[in-house]
Amino acid sequence: KAEQHTQKRMAPLPSHAYVSPVWAPGIFADKVVFCTGGAGSICSAQVRALVHLGANAFIIGRNEEKTRTVAADMQAAARADGRANAKVIGLGGVDVRRIEALEGAVAECVRQLGQVDFVIAGAAGNFLAPQTQLSANAFRAVVEIDLLGSYNTFKAALPELVKAAARNRTTGAGPGTATGGRIVFVSATLYYAGTPLQTHASAAKAGVDALSNHIAIEQAPLGVTSNVIAPGPISGTEGMDRLLLGGDAARVAANKSVPVGRFGTVREIADATVYLFSAAGNFVNGTTLVVDGGAWRTSGGM
Ligand code: HXC
Repeated sequence: KAEQHTQKRMAPLPSHAYVSPVWAPGIFADKVVFCTGGAGSICSAQVRALVHLGANAFIIGRNEEKTRTVAADMQAAARADGRANAKVIGLGGVDVRRIEALEGAVAECVRQLGQVDFVIAGAAGNFLAPQTQLSANAFRAVVEIDLLGSYNTFKAALPELVKAAARNRTTGAGPGTATGGRIVFVSATLYYAGTPLQTHASAAKAGVDALSNHIAIEQAPLGVTSNVIAPGPISGTEGMDRLLLGGDAARVAANKSVPVGRFGTVREIADATVYLFSAAGNFVNGTTLVVDGGAWRTSGGM
């Protein structure tokens, strides 16, 4: 249902539609998620799922109106769907290329929601361009949004993530309790084999994966874990609809290249995020969770 929904670009569904009914209600109670690119198709689904399961959220984006509107809708949908006290705040006008902007956003999140337990670094920019048309400035713009923006997000949130990890130790998180101090980067499978017209995004995402690996090693002693989710072709997303698949023929061909025979759904990316942030993911650190129906194994990536 979520897949058909996103394809048709209808009004958002109730919050329970963004997460599989296999997770215990309230597993993220008292937790706060901070998400860049939070109004986008994939990140908004990730946040809706976490909020449905008990978290409050602070989403940031470049577009003020879109970010505010999506945040308000997330909050209303969660409240109408059983989370009467859910809080979702949207802050627009934040360019992840500026560390000061992110530091300010993290401070605002703490001021309004009290803390940061989980971070989703999802802000990205992309377009299709052959290398002959890809100016140095265009390459830099995408690398700065995707890679520098991911570093800035991590850097600005790290003090709060360390505090979250310390809270786990003092409150003694019990079995089944989600523990804070975790970051997830939204990456891509583009660079596994190389994808035409995607040199800039591919190079940036390779860097994002390396960044996560290094954070995982260096911050784990402080209790902060870092992982990557690499979505494959996901229906109804900007990347697939606007950028990569112009028409029906391309869509049919792409469907065939996925071993499971279909595109993924935003809910399947949200479920992967819930897993990594839940107690079930406690021992997962420094890995990339590819959620693509096995596509990269046959087509080399998206
Ligand atoms: C070639 C282009 C271009 C295009 C922009 N440029 N669009 N070059 N083809 N279609 C060039 C410009 O000419 C300029 O180079 C340089 O890029 C910077 O452009 P600006 O517009 O000044 O930059 P900026 O305003 O910062 O915009 C960043 C952007 C833009 C990435 C270019 O598209 C953007 O803000 N996108 C955000 C939304 C978005 O793209 N979301 C998609 C996420 S989906 P010159 O040389 O002229 O100065 C996604 C999925 C990834 O990321 C995985 C897919 C599988």
